[in-house]
Amino acid sequence: MTPDDFDRLVRTRRSVRGYLPDPVDPGVIEAALQTALWAPSNCNVQPWRIELVSGARLRSLGQAMIAHAQSGKAHPDVPMDTAYRGIFRDRQVGSARALYGAMGIARDDMPGRTAAFLRNLDAFGAPHAAFVFLPAGFGIREAADLGGFVQTFLLALTAQGLGSVAQGALSLYPDILREELGLEKGDQLMVGIAFGHEDPAHPANAARTDREGLEGMVRHHG
Ligand SMILES: Cc1cc2nc3c(=O)[nH]c(=O)nc-3n(C[C@H](O)[C@H](O)[C@H](O)COP(=O)(O)O)c2cc1C
Repeated sequence: MTPDDFDRLVRTRRSVRGYLPDPVDPGVIEAALQTALWAPSNCNVQPWRIELVSGARLRSLGQAMIAHAQSGKAHPDVPMDTAYRGIFRDRQVGSARALYGAMGIARDDMPGRTAAFLRNLDAFGAPHAAFVFLPAGFGIREAADLGGFVQTFLLALTAQGLGSVAQGALSLYPDILREELGLEKGDQLMVGIAFGHEDPAHPANAARTDREGLEGMVRHHG
């Protein structure tokens, strides 16, 4: 693999928010997970714990989360309460504009935006979702390890020709997930990853994001 090959792989990955229902070959999922295990972590503690939910089980979980979202408050294990300001807010608005623009949802169409948000909770119709937990008692330092795991998994899926999207939204209702899967409370749900075969006809998949340049992000010393 050349550096250009790797660069192409990284740039080929993008967030996919519309899927075909066809399941992914279990061997392919296994291979992508095996690759992701090779992400680095603090002291090699490998703090990732995954619950993989597929098919009809994922659809009923999605319906349960959507029902809860419409009636109750979110209680994520890891608070999601940062208000983005300044350039971060500008980038957040830019990505939302790209997505809602691709879906033809106007800025002031609140029901449309709510419906688009709720698609998150059904994993955008993907046949699979990996729910990524941080073990009880671990904090920000180990959460960085999960970031490496998540990106490695996303790239492994991309290399297999699959679509994927990391979703903080899938971590909003951890008690519903625990109830549906019969899990003990303790480990902290950080993020979900929906994946499967991309539906190329879904309008959400026409959205594209860009990136700021390195200036302002990287300073060289010495
Ligand atoms: C940790 C994390 C959480 C995210 N949560 C969501 C989410 O809840 N819903 C969503 O549609 N996209 C989510 N995204 C996808 C980002 O919006 C996306 O990565 C960003 O806009 C850049 O676009 P790209 O992935 O297509 O390059 C998340 C990404 C990451 C890394």
